[in-house]
Amino acid sequence: MTSVFQFQEWLSAHSMRTESALEALLDSDQTTPNRLHEAMRYAAQGGGKRIRPLLVYAAGSLGDATAEALDVAAVAIECIHAYSLVHDDLPCMDDDDLRRGRPTVHKAYDEATALLVGDALQTCAFEILANAKCEVDIRLLMISALAAASGSRGMAGGQAIDLDNVGKKLDLNGLQQMHAMKTGALLSCAVELGGIAAHLNPTQMTCLKNYSQTLGLAFQIVDDVLDATADSQTLGKTAGKDAANDKPTYVTLMGLDYAQKQAKQLQAEAIASLEIFGSKGQALQDLALLVVNRGK
Ligand code: IPE
Ligand code: IPE
Ligand code: MG
Ligand code: MG
Ligand code: MG
Repeated sequence: MTSVFQFQEWLSAHSMRTESALEALLDSDQTTPNRLHEAMRYAAQGGGKRIRPLLVYAAGSLGDATAEALDVAAVAIECIHAYSLVHDDLPCMDDDDLRRGRPTVHKAYDEATALLVGDALQTCAFEILANAKCEVDIRLLMISALAAASGSRGMAGGQAIDLDNVGKKLDLNGLQQMHAMKTGALLSCAVELGGIAAHLNPTQMTCLKNYSQTLGLAFQIVDDVLDATADSQTLGKTAGKDAANDKPTYVTLMGLDYAQKQAKQLQAEAIASLEIFGSKGQALQDLALLVVNRGK
């Protein structure tokens, strides 16, 4: 009997697996200093769609990854993502009060704590990868990929471009580069970590890279569209923030209609990159649909 892939079941199982892995690998809030560890857990465990861990698990299922390698990769990338959100929300960056339906870390705690939560979540990600019970070369490749995607040539660099361009008009190339760096790099890295853990070959990794870079850009376009069209309750973060902060976005540069069409086009391109994986690529395909159709 052929088994039919059930995405909703896969999604709920792997969302639960992400929460369990976070619970197991994050320091307890009884660790000294208690308040910092409590705030780190507040930032990392308070909801979120967990798209990056889901991408790790989906890419990992394409080969022979161990459960341990995928769990550490899923938690590490979510720690970096959570840190990026905590810092993104600070008054010196986007100045946001609401995240994942709750007060941002600097509102629930204070600014200095939010700064330290970001710092500590970042190092915690690398500590978790370094201490994983899996082959040394897999650990090293994962650490290197995550460092490159998080740093000045990846997410942090993209955030710098974002802040440098408040009130300015980027051209389409500039906007795409900013999106690819601030958001695409970490999304792409999630897929790469799964592929590394699964011992995929260079051809398979290249196909995954095409998928993840395309999806990464689509992800931020959809984020820009939702910022302009959805309400704060649905988003769990302040709607209309890009316009209020005078940020260059896909919507301000190209218009809502073009942005929506572009996201759909990128979704189709991402899915086409998965062809070599056949039915094994179904979870990644369905995640591409989820990312682009969210909020609808
Ligand atoms: C929000 O990311 C920040 C961006 C990179 C656009 P998500 O939309 O994945 O946020 P959570 O994790 O679900 O809260
Ligand atoms: C943030 O982009 C990307 C990050 C690296 C956190 P946004 O500033 O658009 O993210 P949101 O809309 O606040 O989640
Ligand atoms: Mg921002
Ligand atoms: Mg923001
Ligand atoms: Mg946004």
